[in-house]
Amino acid sequence: MNVGIDRLSFYAPSYFLDLHKLAAARGVDKDKYVLGLGQERMAVPPPDEDVVTMAASAALPIVEAGGAGDLDLLIFATETGVDQSKAAALFVHGLLELPSSCRAIEMKEACYGATAALQLACAWVAAHPERSALILGADIARYDLRSPGEPTQGAGAIAMRIAANPRILAIDPEHGVHAEDVMDFWRPNYREEALVDGQYSTRVYLASLVSAWERYRAASGRGLDAFRRPCFHLPFTRMAEKAQMRLHRAAGLPAPTPEDLQRILGDSLGYNRNTGNTYAASLYEGLVSLLDTCPEDLGGARVGLYSYGSGCMAEFFSGVVQPGYREALFAARHRAMFDARIELDYQQYEDIFHLALPKDGGEHAFAQYRTGSFRFAGLSQHKRIYEAL
Ligand code: COA
Repeated sequence: MNVGIDRLSFYAPSYFLDLHKLAAARGVDKDKYVLGLGQERMAVPPPDEDVVTMAASAALPIVEAGGAGDLDLLIFATETGVDQSKAAALFVHGLLELPSSCRAIEMKEACYGATAALQLACAWVAAHPERSALILGADIARYDLRSPGEPTQGAGAIAMRIAANPRILAIDPEHGVHAEDVMDFWRPNYREEALVDGQYSTRVYLASLVSAWERYRAASGRGLDAFRRPCFHLPFTRMAEKAQMRLHRAAGLPAPTPEDLQRILGDSLGYNRNTGNTYAASLYEGLVSLLDTCPEDLGGARVGLYSYGSGCMAEFFSGVVQPGYREALFAARHRAMFDARIELDYQQYEDIFHLALPKDGGEHAFAQYRTGSFRFAGLSQHKRIYEAL
């Protein structure tokens, strides 16, 4: 019996900043961002959106299409938690009116969390094949203004229905893991902005890739030629090129040409290039981008997936795209969502960046911005209030 991704939905908030504008404001050559980092636009959440509203918006089409009757596990992976105690999954559980028989928990390990959730859910469904699980990954990538990480900021959410005999991607049982206690990227509880040693993090990402890949190769017996397309965690899209080159070097293969890299990776980078880093959602945003936009029918093709979370946890795994997968995608919906986004000017971006939540425990109703199907409407006695629109 195959188990894997049966539905796959992505959501990005409706505002964006063009990185040409950020480059102009910072006095930086725009090519550093566009070519050097591979980023064009960063998604900016309106002040009445957070990871809960984004994740609920990503999950909505899945629940609308298939109902939630067989759902008994909801895992929300995020490193932008909204409460130290209550799982963000429970707010989503309420907004989507999921059955009270469905467990709901939150999971964290930087950008790797959704992969841990996916593997757990696959094992769960393998043991209970008549049931399904819903995996959410949502984050707001936020660094200090004027820091090197600023142009890689972003926001977005992924939702995946995990089921037996999946329509999109059957996950292979083999995987290779690399875990190591390092400080390449972190966010102390008292900070809204992440701290990152970006050059070091890039080196750890690549060294962990080789370690995870070698373990995957030993477990599966597969070489690089087994994958028609790879998908990588994308802190910025140029990272995928570095990763593919490193895998070729580890395998003793000649370095891929720029044309090879574009052919192998191009379709998986389009969405992330336009949202920036979405942390827990990033790898799966790349997968949606590949499946939605690749003109070639990938039915039957094996896809390699590399998940990396700073700190660090890395995993290389794979899956086989199912024949007829396009019928199960939300490609038209994603296209319409990207087309409807609204561009901010630099000052609007900085004004939104500086908005802070009140901490006095009083009654606060928030202004309504252009948003998705759900909004973070206010605070009352330290409680977050969400509403469906
Ligand atoms: N035209 C084209 N390319 C240019 C350029 C220009 N005018 N100016 C610089 N570049 C290239 C550089 O050569 C470099 O490419 P390379 O990586 O192939 O050498 C790239 O742009 C980035 O330049 P660099 O000087 O390394 O940038 P930086 O030190 O300001 O920061 C990061 C880059 C990635 C380290 C930084 O954006 C960061 O920390 N991002 C966050 C990453 C993260 O969150 N990691 C943790 C999770 S995995």
